[in-house]
Amino acid sequence: MNVRVAVQDPLHISCDWLLIGVGDGDDVPGALDDVLGGLLRELVDRGEFDPNGRDVTVIHPRGALPARRLIVAPMGRERTAEAVRRAVALGGRKIRRLGGGHLAIAPLQDVTDPASAFAYAQAVAEGLFIGTYEFEAFRTNQDRRRNTPITNVDLLIPGGDQVSSAEAGLGWGRTVAEGVNLTRTLVNEPANVATPGRLASAAEEIAAGTGHIRCRVFGEKEVEQEGMGAFLGVARGSDNPPAFIVLEHRLEEFPDTKPVVLVGKAITFDSGGYNIKPSEGLWKMKSDMSGGAAVLGTFAALARLEVPLPVVGLVPAAENLVSGHAYRPGDILHSLSSQTIEILNTDAEGRLILADALAYAERYAPRCVVDMATLTGAMMVALGYSLTGYFCNDDTLAAQLEAAAKRAGEPLWRMPLWDEYDAYLESKVADMCNVGIRWGGAITAALFLRRFVGSYPWAHLDIAGTAFATTDRKPTPPLTPYGATGVPVRTLVEWLRALTE
Ligand code: BES
Ligand code: MN
Ligand code: ZN
Repeated sequence: MNVRVAVQDPLHISCDWLLIGVGDGDDVPGALDDVLGGLLRELVDRGEFDPNGRDVTVIHPRGALPARRLIVAPMGRERTAEAVRRAVALGGRKIRRLGGGHLAIAPLQDVTDPASAFAYAQAVAEGLFIGTYEFEAFRTNQDRRRNTPITNVDLLIPGGDQVSSAEAGLGWGRTVAEGVNLTRTLVNEPANVATPGRLASAAEEIAAGTGHIRCRVFGEKEVEQEGMGAFLGVARGSDNPPAFIVLEHRLEEFPDTKPVVLVGKAITFDSGGYNIKPSEGLWKMKSDMSGGAAVLGTFAALARLEVPLPVVGLVPAAENLVSGHAYRPGDILHSLSSQTIEILNTDAEGRLILADALAYAERYAPRCVVDMATLTGAMMVALGYSLTGYFCNDDTLAAQLEAAAKRAGEPLWRMPLWDEYDAYLESKVADMCNVGIRWGGAITAALFLRRFVGSYPWAHLDIAGTAFATTDRKPTPPLTPYGATGVPVRTLVEWLRALTE
């Protein structure tokens, strides 16, 4: 898909498809509607097009315009960046189903200055590239690949002043989207393909040739030498060797600046171990590496964006299986932090691998640490598919993350680090056990992690509900209708960008 900025009037452009937006409250592009003899208003008035809905409408202007077909997308009440992403995603997917070709996008937002032109073009690129993503690598039957590509896209803007900002925004948005889509592919790939070793090679590929990202991978031996007994305890049950992936972005360039550290849980498959999970929906546990995949996707974006900040990524990658080498309920593990952990449930494995990664993070004397993990079913019960619940020990960091998440269109909801429940983690035989009671399970998981957090500001994003969507998610998300969502890559890149301002 070739995308460029064009200073052209939508009324005069020749193309296969012209995407336009119609919003709530008489928010109709007037000049276009006049050329069409008031058709757009009529569609809204008759209730045949819902400006607040999730469906696009195709119109054949039959010579009234040089565009061969119009695609009308709903903009909702306000033409926000998220409304733009959704409109473009819905329109883009419809066009792919109907034959693809050359798309022109009429102005969907008022663009008045360089900053708004950049943000608008970024949102369009994200809508296009995230919205038209398909995970088709494993379909060998060509007939079943129903989609025809959109070959080229013109982003129409009214004046010449904003061209360079819009071009920069397009490039930025495309790179963010490609990071999101890399994350989605790694998550969608099944566990027999996306092994810890595969994640490690993906990380190495991201770093290769950049000159400003360094990648190191610790194998089983090194992890043992380091003393990561909690991580290793989980990893031992699988024949797929674990990998502790370390990515360092611009660390040498800024030796006097404390780095931001991103930590992502990467359990490539979570069977539950000896506390085995029920059969139903077990296949979805191929997505239990979504946090780690999000760290890799963020670094893929950092590889190509200008983000002058030191950033470290830590991805403990392992598989939680049952075997003669697997850890058992009752086992006691020695974590890197030197605290001992009694395993009362082998299915609470994510917090164990994160415990060692959070302790490892302390070596960087970080400015702050953000971890992300498909950590608890309890979080999914609490907040469902579309809200990521997060915990944070620092209000400034919390405010930054929430603001970035809002701009990125990936909402966050703060949850409490409720001190009282820490008592559930007391063990009769070790420094702590690895589970609380069922109630408040997302909170006890966060409190467990807090025991391994150093003196740095820290946030923990529990993406169990938001990382992977199946067909029971309603309404169907406009950008990522099925499978891996790539959450929270957009938020992380936006937050890092804002930190450089
Ligand atoms: N990976 C799961 C959490 C999960 C559940 C993610 C559903 C996505 C969808 C995690 O490792 C887990 O098994 N958590 C247990 C913790 C319990 C044993 C304390 C859970 O949530 O049941
Ligand atoms: Mn588990
Ligand atoms: Zn898990």
